[in-house]
Amino acid sequence: MVEPKAFVASALEQLKSAVPGTAIVAASGGIDSTAAAVLAQRALGDRAQAIFVDTGLLRAGEAERVAGLFRATGLAYRPIEASARFVAALKGVRDPERKRKRIGAEFVHLFEEEAAALGTDRLVQGTIAPDWIESGGALRDTIKTHHNVGGIPKASRLVLVEPLRDLYKDEVRSVARELGIPEPDRQPFPGPGLAVRVHGPVDAERLRRARVANAVVEEEVDRAVAAHEMARPWQYFAVLLDARTVGVTGDNRIHGDAVSVRVVESTDAMTATAAAVPAAVLARVARRITRELAGEVVRVLYDVTDKPPATIEWE
Ligand code: XMP
Repeated sequence: MVEPKAFVASALEQLKSAVPGTAIVAASGGIDSTAAAVLAQRALGDRAQAIFVDTGLLRAGEAERVAGLFRATGLAYRPIEASARFVAALKGVRDPERKRKRIGAEFVHLFEEEAAALGTDRLVQGTIAPDWIESGGALRDTIKTHHNVGGIPKASRLVLVEPLRDLYKDEVRSVARELGIPEPDRQPFPGPGLAVRVHGPVDAERLRRARVANAVVEEEVDRAVAAHEMARPWQYFAVLLDARTVGVTGDNRIHGDAVSVRVVESTDAMTATAAAVPAAVLARVARRITRELAGEVVRVLYDVTDKPPATIEWE
């Protein structure tokens, strides 16, 4: 476990020597990239230009939440609206690895454009240890290409600066606390966003369904935690499955989608256990998802698998 104060001091030194001029900073509003962005701004001041990309793959209310977080953290940033190009890049892609690669490539193009506009080649990212370990950095087989690692081609002129690359999630949280970032224990959200929570093909319509289902799970679990029905789990979300299933409305049988709800306990995301969520909470989640997506989602499942053998996300 790193000592947060000492880590911050050495990260600031490392950033100063790795960035002689200006740098762009990829800030998604997640705990990892927010910590990296705050470190970059402390080390480099105005020479660090943070950007937040709206990929169209974000959760409900995410852009507003991130604006509030950056305001509270004192982080200056520029929002970039890019949903059309990300959704277009995913058209017709159903393979999880190809999705990650397409998203990664789109981020790289965008960062290259932004870096060129700023006259730099330095890109500060919040990559942490599990991202590159699971992307094949230390294991023989790629388990999963994390978008912020797999997408940078060798030919890219971007030079990556990754101040958190040796840290695990619990260590990043202690560093975030040291940096005064609000809600350091917020649940993680994958860089490729809702694209990996839409199992199979991604389009604006299926993204909308996944967004509604994820919002319901977050709201109902948050409410149950506030009411002391359960402890706050490590991560909780919904996945829109690539399955058509039969449901009934009134006298009619209809075909609709199925949603899988995933709630896990973990400390470092390398292993996880499926959480024992009270049945009443799951029942409320199922009722709300099928009501708010009436005629679209007709079945809600609960995923009881640990990691390993399953990963936390479906894809
Ligand atoms: P898995 O599904 O690999 O997830 O067990 C482990 C943790 O990482 C998150 N995750 C990602 N984060 N880029 C990210 O930045 C990704 O491509 C990615 N895939 C998964 C996941 O939400 C979990 O917390």
